[in-house]
Parts: sequence; C-alpha cells; structure tokens
Amino acid sequence: MSRLRLAVLISGRGSNMEALLRAAEDPAFPAEPVLVLSNRPDAAGLKFADAAGIAAVAIDHKAFGKDREAFEFHVDATLRGAGVEIITLAGFMRVLTPWFVKRWEGRMINIHPSLLPKYKGLDTHQRAIDAGDAEAGCTVHWVSAGVDEGEIIAQARVPILPNDTADTLAARTLPAEHRLYPEALAAACHKIRETSGHA
Ligand code: GAR
Repeated sequence: MSRLRLAVLISGRGSNMEALLRAAEDPAFPAEPVLVLSNRPDAAGLKFADAAGIAAVAIDHKAFGKDREAFEFHVDATLRGAGVEIITLAGFMRVLTPWFVKRWEGRMINIHPSLLPKYKGLDTHQRAIDAGDAEAGCTVHWVSAGVDEGEIIAQARVPILPNDTADTLAARTLPAEHRLYPEALAAACHKIRETSGHA
C-alpha cells in the first residue's frame, strides 16, 4: 500500500514536526514526509528537517505584505509541485484564508494545545488555568473555515496541578501532543484512503 505524501507546515521550534518525522521512519506508517515548509525563514524546525533529508523550504509571509492569498498561492504551488496529498499544521501560526482551506479541504489537519472546543486561538494554557479547569490537553482536528473549529480526530488530556503556570502546563502538554499527532495523522490517512479509494 503506498503512503500518502505528507507536508508539515511549521513556524518555529518544530517539535511536533519532529514527532511526525520520527513516526514516519517506520515504513508501515501511512504517510511519507516529502516537504517541511515554514512561513518563517528562521524556524528551527527547518534545520532538523534538512538534516533528516526532507526538503525544507521557507516562504516568508512578510515578503507578501498584507496579501495573504499571494503568500498562500506560493505555498499552494510549492505543495502541489511536491505532489503533497496531506498537510499537517504543526505550530503553523498563520491563519489561512477560506481559499486555501477550501483547496485542501479533507486533506489538512492541525494540532491545537487545548481541549477544543475550549480555548480556540492563543494563550490556551493560561486561559485554562484562569478558568480553574482541572484538566487541559490537546486536539488534532480537520481544518475548516472557522479557526480551530473543524471536526475533531483525537484528543489527549493532562491534569492541571495547583501551582501550574502557563509554562509548566505547556511543558506537560507537549509530550502528549507528540504522542497524539502521529496517531491522529495515521487515522486521517486511513479516512482519506476510505473516501478516495487511494490504493
Ligand atoms: C504546539 O504546542 C502546538 O500545539 C501549538 O504551537 C506549539 C508548536 O510547538 N499550536 C498552536 O498554538 C496553533 N494554534 P512546536 O513548534 O514545537 O511543534
């Protein structure tokens, strides 16, 4: 069975990207990373991808000013040029336009550091602490037009402890993200195969 050609979109550190690339070292994993793309040329994750032998490309959104679609047009052309079949957003911190989302509908997933539908957007850990929640976590979901609103694929939970800060909670959540994302990506690949008849 052929593996789906995977792109990982990042903006920074890339620890989730690293977890995905490591999972895909197993030839039985249903996705094969072919491209890592960052909107920030200084993203640390690009170096890791390059060292792992994966094509690592920066498309600096700042070069396009406020024209989000012009930026996305280049991203889209690069993805299509690489024959990408599924996109994972892994700490990719640009909101995507409806044009791009529609173009990759059913082929793009995201990881978000909260138990969606709680805490869409930024500062998720601080907001969970401020609300007095007993637990936090992370969610992998299909990307749809509304930010952090697509259908949920999988979630993982972690406890919030009495003296937690946003940093300590983020540090507890991150390993859960690294376990969850490869599993959820595999599930997404199976769904794409079921619906597209990909051999
Ligand atoms: C991760 O915690 C991810 O869930 C979050 O950014 C971090 C990226 O870390 N994503 C979002 O907040 C998206 N809204 P990483 O670069 O080490 O994977």
